[in-house]
Amino acid sequence: MVRNHSILVVDDEPSVCFLLKEELSEQKKFDVFTANDGVAAMNTLQQRPIDVVLLDVKMPRVGGMEVLKFINEHHPTTQVIMLSNYADVKTAIEATKLGAYDFVGKPYTRDELLSTVNRAIQHRRLTIDVELMKYELSRKEGEKEIIAQSPAMRIMLATASKVASSDSIIHIHGASGTGKELIANLIHNDSPRHERPFVVVNCASLPDALLESELFGHERGAFTNAHQMKQGLVEVANGGSLFLDEVGDISPIVQPKLLRFLETGEFRRVGGTTSMQVDVRIISATNKDLNAEVKAGRFREDLLYRLNVVTLRIPPLKDRKEDIPLLVEYFIKKKIKTKESKRISPDAMRSLLAYDWPGNIRELEHSIEGAMLLSHEDVITSKDFILTQSTVEQSIPLTTGANSSVLTMEEVEKLHIEMALIKFKYSRSKTAKALGITLKTLYSKIKRYKIPAEKE
Ligand SMILES: Nc1ncnc2c1ncn2[C@@H]1O[C@H](COP(=O)(O)OP(=O)(O)OP(=O)(O)O)[C@@H](O)[C@H]1O
Ligand SMILES: [Mg+2]
Repeated sequence: MVRNHSILVVDDEPSVCFLLKEELSEQKKFDVFTANDGVAAMNTLQQRPIDVVLLDVKMPRVGGMEVLKFINEHHPTTQVIMLSNYADVKTAIEATKLGAYDFVGKPYTRDELLSTVNRAIQHRRLTIDVELMKYELSRKEGEKEIIAQSPAMRIMLATASKVASSDSIIHIHGASGTGKELIANLIHNDSPRHERPFVVVNCASLPDALLESELFGHERGAFTNAHQMKQGLVEVANGGSLFLDEVGDISPIVQPKLLRFLETGEFRRVGGTTSMQVDVRIISATNKDLNAEVKAGRFREDLLYRLNVVTLRIPPLKDRKEDIPLLVEYFIKKKIKTKESKRISPDAMRSLLAYDWPGNIRELEHSIEGAMLLSHEDVITSKDFILTQSTVEQSIPLTTGANSSVLTMEEVEKLHIEMALIKFKYSRSKTAKALGITLKTLYSKIKRYKIPAEKE
């Protein structure tokens, strides 16, 4: 299932509106609205974001060209397709020069109409992606695989995919570098909104006034330097998901505005007079303890309750060391695109398993990258991890004492079997042979340690 696109048909002939609405609605992927004149069209556009407008050139009072100018100025991401009779084809062509996406001559065929509308939707999507990429608000590049096999992560991921398909607000809590943004992205991609934008706003990186206008947009002249109208990110994300990163850092000034938006789905551009309604799914994340922030008077309690309808907690890497071998292999493969791969020595793996990773997975990824550059052979040894080495040595009590950072013999055996299984692509017979144990012993250990049958 995919989120519907919104289309507005504007024509002074009710029969044309009716017909177009019928034809487009058949597709089931469009929500179609109609307006019989330019003024009604502008009113509709002020109330809800519209993806594509089918616009008659000739209408009494406010004509198509005026509406086009209005759309260009106030709703720049909305795509306009002019509808023209034979007589006003020239004007329609003129309109495309002024920013209309294309035109369809009347009479049109159904296929012609649908293909133009679909291309316009595609074009809108690309325009938005380019805009967002400019601001690094949408980061789609690279692979988005989530590597996890630890029970804690599996439970968390199962919950994430269960809630992904709904529209519920989700809060993600986890220390820096644990993969909060990755999970937010996964939720979006697993939802019916996956074809619409995933917009990321880092609430900590913007000053108050700027954050408000980034989120909700502003009208021209709303404040000094507001020379042009700007659409808010909530508008751009319409139909998709908005990821409020570092939500714990939103200032007390913006908090009530965000709360109102979460409660009603309505917002006003800064300096604007009309409320607009959008359909956006909110995912938020922080590494702060929001309950403590509430107690300290820095975060509104009612906003916290709105945000944490469903809370996903991502454990730090030190509490799920079972994930390390898989992550290491994944990052090595990700870096080397050729066939031959580098291996990591057992000695180096031991160091990685002993270290506590305060920077979590991001730190692990960077360490692997660095070590790969330093290693000369096709084997990465512990010496190649210069940055972490001193810390690792400190963190391994070599002689005495029970310490949570030291793995038990059973944990080490389990990890060793897992690594061998990965190496031999889960072939039980090859793995058993390499480990020097019988197939029967391997099976009983897999069962005992509850090792997953295969990497997901
Ligand atoms: N389970 C995982 N599998 C593969 N890669 C991961 C995993 N978790 C995190 N990463 C990678 O680690 C890096 C950090 O992840 P991400 O940016 O999502 O963390 P974060 O919790 O948002 O961090 P911060 O709080 O610093 O913003 C990214 O490059 C991400 O792709
Ligand atoms: Mg992040």
